[in-house]
Amino acid sequence: MIQASLEGKRCLVTGAAGNVGSKLCEALLGAGAFVAGVDNFFSGYRSNLEPFQDNPSFAFHERSILEPDLLPGLAALHGRFDAVLHMAAVVSVPWSMDHPEETMAVNRDATLALHAQARESGAGGFVFAGSAAEYGLPVEGPVREDQAGEPQSPYGWAKYLASKHIAESGFGASVRFFNLYGPARGKPGPYDGVVRRFLAMALADKPLTVFGDGGQTRDFVWVYDAVLAVLLAAGLAGERGPLAGVFNVGTGRSTSVLELARMILAVTGRELPVQSLPERAGDLRHSLADTSALALAAGFTPATPFEEGLGRTLEWFTAHPDELA
Ligand code: UD1
Repeated sequence: MIQASLEGKRCLVTGAAGNVGSKLCEALLGAGAFVAGVDNFFSGYRSNLEPFQDNPSFAFHERSILEPDLLPGLAALHGRFDAVLHMAAVVSVPWSMDHPEETMAVNRDATLALHAQARESGAGGFVFAGSAAEYGLPVEGPVREDQAGEPQSPYGWAKYLASKHIAESGFGASVRFFNLYGPARGKPGPYDGVVRRFLAMALADKPLTVFGDGGQTRDFVWVYDAVLAVLLAAGLAGERGPLAGVFNVGTGRSTSVLELARMILAVTGRELPVQSLPERAGDLRHSLADTSALALAAGFTPATPFEEGLGRTLEWFTAHPDELA
């Protein structure tokens, strides 16, 4: 994923025990970088750290991004960071509905503080995990970064306000992830992504539950393609330096939930019914990325076709059945 050696580079990854954060740590360590990882296990899982926790180039800090002066403290220990990859967040949209203040404190306020600290400490780059949820309604069709919507949740608002601040500051990038899928560790739950849920249902020979008519569409991105997008935005992969601004991370391909159900049945070789359930509150009808900004800025085009990614996801979960149980 990273061609050049990153030996001598120091990176800070917040949310290191999360899905994207842990994959970033692995990629950076693999390329020879030193990585300081921060997580308080609110959204992350210890099992995500297992593959690299004993790597001598990895230093883990069980800390919260709400702690004041987090970054200066870590920089005093480890030296100036070449890149700060800020993936730590409250990740559940439904949880944010019940906890708007905590969500704002973590997803917006702590991001702004960390961003200021990164800038003041002379960090080379700063990348924030934004979200397609920042658009909300009434945006339809492939959505461009400057098409402000109306976020439908405290989660979406907090991410939107943090992205806006970063863009206006001229320092750092927000990468707006669309629907990430792929290998993922951690306790399966009702808020897992639809790909993981459908795979679990199909492999357990249970009907696939479709909320509403299944005509709602999403832009599904292979999680390792999203990891590459973060590295490019940080200037840690590719030819360009760190990026500034907001960038969609999607594929530009739209897939309906019903189509996805059919694809999952095909890839798992199952013939199972699709069970219609009531529409989910707050569900977006359509979500699709215009991908031209990141293509132009960093030459990024997601390489993994959805069918191939689904096959690889199935392979991974078949080899790690406990992660679906
Ligand atoms: C996803 C992200 C969210 C992000 C948002 C950005 C996940 C888990 N959530 O939300 O963090 O902010 O994209 O747009 O990745 N569905 C079913 N049956 C199921 C499960 C889901 O029909 O059993 C449908 C949902 O109603 C929805 C679609 O599948 O229409 C996708 O749902 P989900 O994977 O939960 O993601 P988003 O809600 O799009």
